[in-house]
Amino acid sequence: MKYATKINMSFDGIDVQKRARLALAQGFQKGSGLPVSHEYRVHLKELQEIKDRLPPSLRNKQIIVRKLYIHDAGIPAHIHLRDMCVINHHVHANQEETIFYEGEVQRDNDVVTDNDDPFYFMVNTRLLTEVEKYTAKTGDTWILDTVAPHAVIPTKPISQDRELLQIYFYDATYEEVVRAFNPRAIALRFENLPKISEEILSLIPHQSYDGFTFEPFSPESFESAVTLWSELKRFGVEKQHVDKLWIVSMVDDLMIHRDTTSAARMAINIPVLGCEGTELVFYEPRNGVESTPVEYYPGAEAYHPYSIRDVKPVERISYFNHAVLWDVTNIHSVIGVEGQKRITLSVRLKNDDCVKHL
Ligand SMILES: [Fe+2]
Repeated sequence: MKYATKINMSFDGIDVQKRARLALAQGFQKGSGLPVSHEYRVHLKELQEIKDRLPPSLRNKQIIVRKLYIHDAGIPAHIHLRDMCVINHHVHANQEETIFYEGEVQRDNDVVTDNDDPFYFMVNTRLLTEVEKYTAKTGDTWILDTVAPHAVIPTKPISQDRELLQIYFYDATYEEVVRAFNPRAIALRFENLPKISEEILSLIPHQSYDGFTFEPFSPESFESAVTLWSELKRFGVEKQHVDKLWIVSMVDDLMIHRDTTSAARMAINIPVLGCEGTELVFYEPRNGVESTPVEYYPGAEAYHPYSIRDVKPVERISYFNHAVLWDVTNIHSVIGVEGQKRITLSVRLKNDDCVKHL
């Protein structure tokens, strides 16, 4: 979705019911015809626990965490003025619909008597078009773009307050927060990378590799890579999670493409030899350009090639001194040092489940 994304963020073990003693009652004014809501700040201990569970790139962002009880599920269309994004964890949902709109944003002072709240204002939906909506279930967690006009509409009479645990971001946009939960790549700091490289080299006849080769690790090598497995285990990746290990040897840059995949999106690249200066580069398509899938060889999963003219680089990650866990469905290439032969071990995972251990 363009303005909301469902995520798996665990709130297990965090007491989301506990309210801070300094309860801050507020919400819509009585008499305005709108539901009364009550918000509470969470205790510092819970605040820290929640921060620790955010992706690393969001931990230093300016956030406010609050617990919200709403006596009615509905909130008219509005935009937020201070925060740019919110993570809503639905402690209790009432099958209400959250709707997003596009169009001309105009303040609508007829909806409420106090449409000059410093945090949000109600907007005129007659000038807007509904573009998307979702119905959250109890226990769901969603990221919302609070700068886009949105409303919450009840779909049935309620018997219990709607309850939300909310993380408001004041200096991170919706796109940044969504990207932080779906990173293109994460560096895996192995304790002893040189030893792993040495072990892999000892298991492959690397001197015979020339030009571009893409070969599966033999089953014997798979079993013998003891150091590799003990290191991967630290990141929650075990033998049973691995689909295939490929030895990739090449001199030139890898063409720009994205993979299609029937199973896991995630792969781990481990530098083995000559990877100094090598970068994994991610791209975004220009003007939404699409690519026709190509089969590399019969039976292999198709990939989408892109011309350099149709994409722009958006992120680079060097991986000669660490391994990289990355999402192969992003448009990418590997840029090496001219004339330098490099060998990489590519670990293709069976599913993306182990990623949550990171
Ligand atoms: Fe809102």
